[in-house]
Amino acid sequence: MITKVVAAQEFKARRNTLAQQLSPNSIALVSTSAVRYRNSDVEYPYRADSYFHYLTGFNEPEAILLIETFEPDQPYDYTLFCRERNHDEEIWNGYRAGLEGAVQKYFADQSYLIDNFDEQCGARLLGKSNIYLYLGHDDAFEQRVLDILQQASGESSVTPLPLNPILDEMRLFKSKFEIECMKKAAAITAKAHTHAMQAAYNGVMEYELAAELHYQFNKNGCEPAYGTIVAGGKNACVLHYVENKQPIATNDLVLIDAGCEYQYYASDISRTFPVSGQFSAEQRALYQLVLDAEYAAIDAVQVGASFIAPHDATVQILTRGLVELGLLKGNVDELIQSQAYTKFYMHGTSHWLGLDVHDVGAYKIDGAYRNFEAGMVLTIEPGLYIAKDEPSVAEKWRGIGIRIEDNIFVTVDGPEVLTAAVVKDIDAIESLMKNKNT
Ligand code: GLY
Ligand code: MN
Ligand code: MN
Repeated sequence: MITKVVAAQEFKARRNTLAQQLSPNSIALVSTSAVRYRNSDVEYPYRADSYFHYLTGFNEPEAILLIETFEPDQPYDYTLFCRERNHDEEIWNGYRAGLEGAVQKYFADQSYLIDNFDEQCGARLLGKSNIYLYLGHDDAFEQRVLDILQQASGESSVTPLPLNPILDEMRLFKSKFEIECMKKAAAITAKAHTHAMQAAYNGVMEYELAAELHYQFNKNGCEPAYGTIVAGGKNACVLHYVENKQPIATNDLVLIDAGCEYQYYASDISRTFPVSGQFSAEQRALYQLVLDAEYAAIDAVQVGASFIAPHDATVQILTRGLVELGLLKGNVDELIQSQAYTKFYMHGTSHWLGLDVHDVGAYKIDGAYRNFEAGMVLTIEPGLYIAKDEPSVAEKWRGIGIRIEDNIFVTVDGPEVLTAAVVKDIDAIESLMKNKNT
């Protein structure tokens, strides 16, 4: 079970792992996200920066983590800069941990006022061998630290070292705690998709189905991890369709790509189903093809296999199937070679999943796709999108868009599908929609 104590141990273990990889006598700094405004006086819902959350569990704005290492045999030091408690501010804008809370609840060795960061940081940086920053992530913060460093050292140019490879590689491999969070996110999202399927009917508005999903997310204390896509008919051929404002015409397919974020961990599920509850012949043929590709791609997620193996399996099956159905013409190998399939399948098959829906972690090492290792989590998400004005195919295929997406945990025993609880086989979808109340 995820308790506060378990979570605190997890954050500490991450700081330990980070500190071990820093050179002695160095400082690492990570800042969190700023509050952003939607329009006058209205803030976007606040979400802490994923790296900052990963290392601290501290989710207030205006905070900076400082890890300082000393000689090799000495323990490192963890400082949290944050806002102080403030009676009036808390009445208007919510609770704060304050400097005491940073130590007592978030286990910093010491805490300082965020307003004193420049001064404190300047003093701490003096005489240090290296300074580490996550580069290219927050330009304003990077510049601020470089200015502090130049002022403190009197040197005109200072080169920080990147935290990027260290933190990205750490985040790529999920701990037991993280998998527990991701299973929970997957379970809530699977239930939400099931409810949305059961709530569908000819003519339903896309936003009505989005509401079913968001109701389930919110009811379980979660928010969407990204912009929900509910795309009826030809709208499914717009890959990032988030308007969700159209009625779904009788007998059209609806593509839903939605996932919640649980304790900062994302899920990312896509399902496509006929709004009437019954696939037409063309919908069925294309859907089965995508489903066959999805099963084959999942099977390709094996420890030691290449990251690109699921995509290669997908392309192979989709191209062969499109030739059999007459949507592509020619020799399968040549069509793959010339990437003819990209007219109907124009995105990748996988991305890493974690604190970010498109999570961090290198896909290639020294220019070549890396191999799967236990502890990674990724999506498998083949699709087919036949544009409504695609002249090269018979009219009956046009305007059909399909994506099927699951979340896969790589284990030594093979791929574990975290999102298996929401149906995807044709018979199972039709049966679920026929028996709406079961
Ligand atoms: N929902 C975003 C994606 O599937 O990559
Ligand atoms: Mn995805
Ligand atoms: Mn998705």
